[in-house]
Amino acid sequence: MNPLEEPGRTSRTIDPCVLVIFGATGDLTGRRLVPAIYQLGREGLLPSNFACVGFARRPKTDEQFRGELKEDIIAHSRTKPIDETFWQSFQEQIFYHQSDFDVDEGYQNLARRLSQLDTRHGTRGNRIFYLSVPPKYFPLIIEKLRKFNLIYDVRENEERWSRVIIEKPFGRDFASSAELQTSIQKNLHESQTYRIDHYLGKETVQNLLVFRFANSIFESIWNNKHIDHVQITVAEELGIGTRGAFFEEEGLLRDIVQNHMMQLVSLVAMEPPVNLSASAVRDEKVKVLQSIRPFTQSDFKENVIRGQYGNGYINGESVPGYRQEANVNPNSAVETYVAMRLFIDNWRWASVPFYLRGGKRLPKRATEIAITFKDAPGFLFQNYDRKIDPNVLAIRIQPNEGIALKINCKIPGPSSPIQPVKMDFRYGSYFGQSPPEAYERLIWDSMLGDNTLFARSDEVASSWKILTPVLEYWSNNRSEFPNYSSGTWGPANADEMIKKDGRTWRIL
Ligand code: BG6
Repeated sequence: MNPLEEPGRTSRTIDPCVLVIFGATGDLTGRRLVPAIYQLGREGLLPSNFACVGFARRPKTDEQFRGELKEDIIAHSRTKPIDETFWQSFQEQIFYHQSDFDVDEGYQNLARRLSQLDTRHGTRGNRIFYLSVPPKYFPLIIEKLRKFNLIYDVRENEERWSRVIIEKPFGRDFASSAELQTSIQKNLHESQTYRIDHYLGKETVQNLLVFRFANSIFESIWNNKHIDHVQITVAEELGIGTRGAFFEEEGLLRDIVQNHMMQLVSLVAMEPPVNLSASAVRDEKVKVLQSIRPFTQSDFKENVIRGQYGNGYINGESVPGYRQEANVNPNSAVETYVAMRLFIDNWRWASVPFYLRGGKRLPKRATEIAITFKDAPGFLFQNYDRKIDPNVLAIRIQPNEGIALKINCKIPGPSSPIQPVKMDFRYGSYFGQSPPEAYERLIWDSMLGDNTLFARSDEVASSWKILTPVLEYWSNNRSEFPNYSSGTWGPANADEMIKKDGRTWRIL
C-alpha cells in the first residue's frame, strides 16, 4: 500500500504501538524527531494507544526527560506556540529508559517495561525502534533487540509487528555498507528495515512522482530528444556548527550526495513504475542508479570537484573557515562541497549530462532541480540581438517550495524584443499552509508499515558503488584546501567543469 494511492492522510488506520528512540538525548531527537511526533499527535495522526520511550546512556527521570522535550518542541516545532493542553496529556505517554547500548540488562529491563506499557497503554506488543545513534552501534543494538525478543520473526498471521528505523549514513562506502547489511540481515528482515533518507519525506520530493506521472504533458518531452541537461543543487548557507566531529568522519559526499542527491537523481530519471507499491517504485529507482556510467580516471580530475570553505561572509556577517570550526582538524582534508557531472546510460537519458552540486556555506539555502530544454531552432529570430534563452523547468524542493517554468515572451510594443519570463507555482500561496516536516511523514509511514519512502538495500548499494571510487581517489590524492570563501558559490574549478561544456550553473 502506498500513500500516493490514498486520498488523505487520516483515511488510514494505524495500529497501536510503542516508539523507542535510541539516542534520545541527541541533537536529531531534539531538533527533528520529537517536534515531528508532537505534531503528529496534535493533528490526531498518532494511534490512540501510543507510547514513546527514549533510550539513552545518561541517567535521567521521566519528568526530566519530558521537561527537556518540551523545551525542544518550543524551540523547533513548526507550529507555535506549544499547545499546552495537548502537551499536558501527551507527556504522560513519554518515558525515559537509561542504559548503555551494549548491556544485556538494559534490554531485559526494556522488554519488561514495554510489556508493562502494553498493559497500561494498550500498545499490543507493536514496536518501532528508531536508531538515532552513531552507525557503529546499529549492528549491536539490532543484535540485542533480537536476542531479547524485541524484534519478532516475520510470519504470516503474526498480529504483532516490530520495525527498525535506521538513520543515515548506512555504511561509509560500498564494502562497509555491504558488511553492515550482512550483519543486520541476520536479525532483521528487509520488510522490517526502514533506512531513512529524510529527503524522501519532503512534500516537494514526493510531488516529483505526481508531477511526472499525473501530468501527461511532460512525459513525451522527458528525454534526451528534448532535454539538454539536468542540474541538481543542494546549497546551504549553514556551516558545520556543532557537528565538527561528525563531519570530520563523513564529509559532504557521504552526508548529502550518496543519499539525498542520489535519491533526487533517481526520482527525476526513473521510468514510470508499474504501480505505486513500494517495490515497484523502488525497482525503477534502483535501475537508474545501476545505469549511471562509472567515473573514469579523467572524470576524477575534471568532472568530480571537491571543495572546502574558508572564512568569509554570510549575509554580511563574518564566519570562520571549516578548519577553524570546533572539533575540526586544522589541516583537515574533508570536503564541504562537491560538484559532479554524470551520465545515465539508458535509452531515455543517453548523452544528457546531469550536473550535481552541493555545499555548505554557499550564498543561500536552495535545493532545486533545473531541467534545461534544448534550444529552439534559431532561424526565425536570427537577427535578434541576443541568443534566445532555453526553456527551464525548475522544481524548487526548498525553500519557497514550488515549480517554475521559464519561457520566452514578446515584450509589449512595436519593437518586439523578446524576454524570458517565469511562470511560478508556489505551494505556500496556493495551499495556504506550511507543508508537514519530512520526519512527520516518515515516522507516520513507519507506523503504517509503508516503506516506499525509505531506501531499499539495493538502492543504497548501487549508490555506494558509483561513489566509492571517488572516495578512494580522494583518499590517495589530496587537494589544496580551503578553495572557496564562505558566501561564494564554491571552487572555481566547479564553474570550469560546466563551462567547458558550454553551460552555466543556474538557480531559477
Ligand atoms: C542532513 C545532513 O541529512 O541533511 C545535514 O546531515 C544537512 O548536513 C541536512 O544540513 C539538510 O536537511 P534539510 O532538511 O535542512 O535540507
